[in-house]
Amino acid sequence: MAEAVDPEFHNRAFWDGDADGYQAAHGHALAAAPVAWGVWRVPEATLGVLGDVADRDVLEYGCGAAQFGVALTGLGARVVGLDLSEGQLGHARTRVEAAATRLPLVCASATATPFADASFDVVFCDHGAMSFCDPARTVPECARLLRDGGRLVFLVGTQLLYLTWDDQGFRQTRRLHAPWQARRVAGSDLGTVDVIWSHGEWIRVLRAHDFVVDDLIEVLAPDGATTTHDFAPYRWARRWPAEEIWCATRRPRATR
Ligand SMILES: C[S@@+](CC[C@H](N)C(=O)[O-])C[C@H]1O[C@@H](n2cnc3c(N)ncnc32)[C@H](O)[C@@H]1O
Repeated sequence: MAEAVDPEFHNRAFWDGDADGYQAAHGHALAAAPVAWGVWRVPEATLGVLGDVADRDVLEYGCGAAQFGVALTGLGARVVGLDLSEGQLGHARTRVEAAATRLPLVCASATATPFADASFDVVFCDHGAMSFCDPARTVPECARLLRDGGRLVFLVGTQLLYLTWDDQGFRQTRRLHAPWQARRVAGSDLGTVDVIWSHGEWIRVLRAHDFVVDDLIEVLAPDGATTTHDFAPYRWARRWPAEEIWCATRRPRATR
């Protein structure tokens, strides 16, 4: 896939086409462990990255069928789900109705959302919009959306996952197959276009847009974990982190 391709345009078409198949394959497992992270569903209770969400305004940023967000409403959060795919949001609507909860769903790209400044206490995603958009656009948008002291928490795939991807064998290996690239755009015509930035690039863009980086958690597959995804082989993901969670706090805005 040429790097000039617009990830947003490509990914909207991909997710609209794939939503039914994706939810059939993974929706049940996501709903069975909704307050959890990544393809191995590591519990939030173990990681504690979101903190107490009761009575907080929370945005799920690339919500898919909003399994995570629906569960957070049960913990007292006021959640809004945003996604650029109407196909995915159709599944979210079904889940919200089935849960008989209140969770507004908004169809828009994460790079240009319709919300007012300082609308949220928490913006989070789990393999959501941060995996598919240019951080130079999403990070300032999150800084705009968050209240002072608000939290940005997102899980993305690691650089290592992409560097060790073998195009011939169609899987991760123990070797590096790609050269280092601080800002990588990877994808194929058949799948999503993913945006992968190095740690240095993430730190610079977060700091440039008024975030303090609180933590970076590299996620290994827990012992005996299973997944419905073919994101990375279990044995590989036991040894090397395929996923990482960034936690940042929005600095207070300057007062005049
Ligand atoms: C892997 S799903 C993540 C949702 C959920 N956590 C899950 O695991 O199913 C990725 C979601 O990100 C959404 N997405 C991709 N690019 C986006 C963008 N530019 N703005 C908003 N959502 C986007 C896709 O439509 C898709 O629903």
